[in-house]
Amino acid sequence: DTDAITIMKQEVGRAAAQRVQSNTIVGLGTGSTTAYAIQFIGARLKSGELQNIKGIPTSFQARVLAKKYGIPLTTLDEVDHIDIAIDGADEVDPQKNLIKGGGAAHTQEKIVDSLAAQFIVVVDSGKLVDSLGSTFLLPVEVLPMAVTPVMKAIEALGGKPELRMGVKKAGPVVTDQGNLVVDVKFDRIENPGELEKTLNNLPGVLENGLFVNVADVILVGEVIEGQPTVR
Ligand code: A5P
Repeated sequence: DTDAITIMKQEVGRAAAQRVQSNTIVGLGTGSTTAYAIQFIGARLKSGELQNIKGIPTSFQARVLAKKYGIPLTTLDEVDHIDIAIDGADEVDPQKNLIKGGGAAHTQEKIVDSLAAQFIVVVDSGKLVDSLGSTFLLPVEVLPMAVTPVMKAIEALGGKPELRMGVKKAGPVVTDQGNLVVDVKFDRIENPGELEKTLNNLPGVLENGLFVNVADVILVGEVIEGQPTVR
C-alpha cells in the first residue's frame, strides 16, 4: 500500500488522529480514509501518548477496526456526549455540506457525527465539489417493504433512483440495519437542507446521505508533485 493516494489517505487519517485528546469520547467513522485515522488513534493509545479514549463506531466496519487496533468501545446509552468524530465523505461543498453513504453507513454516521461537539471530515481533494450531487449519487436508506413506493416518490421529486446492488453478493446491498439503499441522481441539488428534510419525510425512508451544517473541519489530502500533503 504505497501508492500516492494511499499515502495521502494515511496522512489525512494521521492528521485527524492527532486532534484526538486524552479522556474523550470519539466517534469512529466508516470508509477507507477513516480506517487510517482509527489505526493511528490505536497506535497513539498503544504508545501511551493518548489515554482513556472511548470510541463509538458508526458501522460494523468501524467496530471491527476499533477492536483490531485496541480502541475501547462504548455506546450512546453509556455516554452523555461525544467530544470529536472523524469520518470520511463522498462529496464536500464550499459550505462544508456533505454527501455520505458510499459505504451504505450514512444513517449511523449521521447520528454519531451530528452528536459530536467537533466533527472532522477526512477526504482527498477529489471529493471537493462546487455543488452537491455533481459527481456522486445521493444514497437513501429505505425499509425493504417500502422500496417501490419510495422510488416512485423520488421520481416525482425529479430524482432518478436506482437500487444499489451488491458486488460480491447476488441481489441488493443490505445495510448494517438490514435495509436497502437507493442511489439517486438529481440534476441539481439547489437547497441541500430542504432536500434532506423532504426525502426523510417520505414514509419508509430511514435516512439520506445529505449532511447539512454538521461538519466543523474539513481535512483535505492532496498529492502535489508526488508528495502527500494535508490542508
Ligand atoms: C460510508 O457510508 C461513507 O459515508 C464514507 O464515509 C465515505 O464513502 C468515504 O469513504 P472513503 O474514505 O473510503 O472514500
